[in-house]
Amino acid sequence: MTESTAKLEFGGKTHELKVRSGSVGPDVIDIASLYKDTGAFTYDPGFTSTASCESGITFIDGDQGILLHRGYPIDQLAEHGDFLEVCYLLLYGELPTKAQKDDFDLRVTRHTMVHEQMTKFFSGFRRDAHPMAVMCGVVGALSAFYHDSTDISDPHQRMVASIRLIAKMPTIAAMAYKYYIGQPFVYPKNELNFAANFLHMCFAVPCEDYKVNPVLARAMERIFILHADHEQNASTSTVRLAGSSGANPFACIAAGIACLWGPAHGGANEAALTMLSEIGHVDRIPEFIARAKDKNDPFRLMGFGHRVYKNYDPRAKIMQKTTHEVLGELGIKDDPMLDVAIELERIALTDEYFIEKKLYPNIDFYSGITLKALGFPTAMFTVLFAVARTVGWISQWKEMIEDPHQRIGRPRQLYTGATERDYVPIAKR
Ligand code: CMC
Repeated sequence: MTESTAKLEFGGKTHELKVRSGSVGPDVIDIASLYKDTGAFTYDPGFTSTASCESGITFIDGDQGILLHRGYPIDQLAEHGDFLEVCYLLLYGELPTKAQKDDFDLRVTRHTMVHEQMTKFFSGFRRDAHPMAVMCGVVGALSAFYHDSTDISDPHQRMVASIRLIAKMPTIAAMAYKYYIGQPFVYPKNELNFAANFLHMCFAVPCEDYKVNPVLARAMERIFILHADHEQNASTSTVRLAGSSGANPFACIAAGIACLWGPAHGGANEAALTMLSEIGHVDRIPEFIARAKDKNDPFRLMGFGHRVYKNYDPRAKIMQKTTHEVLGELGIKDDPMLDVAIELERIALTDEYFIEKKLYPNIDFYSGITLKALGFPTAMFTVLFAVARTVGWISQWKEMIEDPHQRIGRPRQLYTGATERDYVPIAKR
């Protein structure tokens, strides 16, 4: 890592700030000593210009539309890898050898069941509870079940917690789904791979055989790979911030799930599908495009735009291909929602407003259509995102705990409230 300096004129003095270069990507002006040296804070709502940490996991070039995990392009991983291979890569930093992969698959597979007592936890929720609400609660509750993996100072326990989370998340997600639709829970089947096992736990019923369709399992796998990590996004930053206080990993992941739920983040795939069905027909697209451009209308085209990508989201391209594979396999030829999606994408990509603001379709634009075709209700979409993102969250959490520069995350503020004043008794107010 090379070092140069930047100069800041402030308070009549010139301050030298270290400039650090990563292996690739923009340089970073190190302001860690700014307050000590100048008495001033920086102000950056939404952290648009702030690197909150050093990381070697994921690299995004939003202008070029590039996404790399540990250096490997996402399209190559999605095309040739399987999800657990990507999990290994994110957690350990390198692609596994055959022996390492077999061992890792075995270790994850052995942890797919959840403590039987956890099944009782579900019945405390209303049947019509949103599955993400159930996920926040049940994943947080893992810390009450697996005490032997909550000592974050022990590397072995950290890895056991990581593997438990990767392994149990699909089981908990499938249970949330089954509870939501009133069907009995289906236990994991360890002879199946990660994605096929998940489809099995969601769609099998005890009264008949269920054979997982390999094309659909591969599509599920790809969806998991595409969502596995995305550097310091809102939910990952939430996990890191929660973890920076020394909280246990299960509680931190529950915090990440809560953040992911929002429609500006993981909730967008659900919102995108709701929007496509609300548009309903290609004839109504201009009306919605006009609304999206209207400053006085809070409506936004869901599945469009991204904080980092100012080019086509590389994941959206793969997702679009996967959508067509799934619809082809299921013989869905005329999906009105797909027609609306394709036409909406075409119009938006040629519209001056979207071009000027660099608003391209993001991954959520196509993932909703695919998940619907796979048989999931919209309420499950963000849950599936959480299943996939768990490995990213836990890899980032581990990296943070193992970083010697790690300190509790504690941002400062620009205070604009009342200055000091005396308390007034209620009778005199
Ligand atoms: N439709 C219409 N206009 C938009 C949209 C949109 N989807 N997204 C951004 N804009 C406009 C926005 O009004 C603003 O215009 P102006 O400069 O005139 O005020 C400009 O583009 C910049 O938007 P911003 O809100 O400042 O950008 P941001 O980086 O803060 O927000 C975003 C990024 C993803 C929250 C936003 O684009 C959005 O709300 N998109 C729809 C929701 C969505 O699809 N989210 C999924 C993100 S990808 C998966 C994930 O992260 O989980």
